[in-house]
Amino acid sequence: MRLFIDTGSVAEVEEIARWGVLAGATTNPSLLAKESGDPGDIVRRICELVRGPVSAEVVSSDAGGMVAEGRALRALHEHVVVKVPFSAAGLEATRALAGDGIPVNMTLVFSPTQAILAAEAGATYISCFMGRLDDVSIDSAEVLAGIVGCLRPTGVTAQVLAASIRHPEHVVTAAKLGCEVATVPGKVLRQMLDHPLTTAGIERFSADWASRPEFGEWLRGLVASGSVPASH
Ligand code: E4P
Repeated sequence: MRLFIDTGSVAEVEEIARWGVLAGATTNPSLLAKESGDPGDIVRRICELVRGPVSAEVVSSDAGGMVAEGRALRALHEHVVVKVPFSAAGLEATRALAGDGIPVNMTLVFSPTQAILAAEAGATYISCFMGRLDDVSIDSAEVLAGIVGCLRPTGVTAQVLAASIRHPEHVVTAAKLGCEVATVPGKVLRQMLDHPLTTAGIERFSADWASRPEFGEWLRGLVASGSVPASH
């Protein structure tokens, strides 16, 4: 499963892209509304940082408006994927944009039936919102399993994207269910780093090494000798 970052913050993408784990990003109007600066500049900068698909969302409610906004958003950068909210108009716009060769992320999908329609309209990604389902006491794992189960046997190429991720366990569930992508907020990606045994293990290695100062000298000398090519 590939990991996207779910954010409108360039600073956050700069920080986490350095880990080397991001394959793309998703934004939405709410995330971009929290940021200062030109939204186009933000989307372009995130595209440069992740060097992969970056979703930017249309806000019109009619198909014509969605298509016009989608074409304009796509012109921002070759990595832009047009995010289209699910609706009848959204399906119509998805079909038109996909017909132009523009990748679409159909968002706000909450059921297998909506996912089937999104796939048939030509969406490249289908975003199922786990956290928002759990918020209304609908089992997000069950819905996601239903979506994956409906799409896989039919051989459609649409990728299932687990969104509205609230905690690391959502990411694990999405991976186990076979989602192609999970889009994860920076906060949850940072939570995924942590394990007390890792912290304790690093502290113990460090203390044991420090108990032999001559070993520290040896390693510093090895680094200074530059005998290992930097690319290795
Ligand atoms: C997905 O692409 C959305 O931007 C996002 O995951 C929504 O998450 P939320 O429910 O936490 O707002």
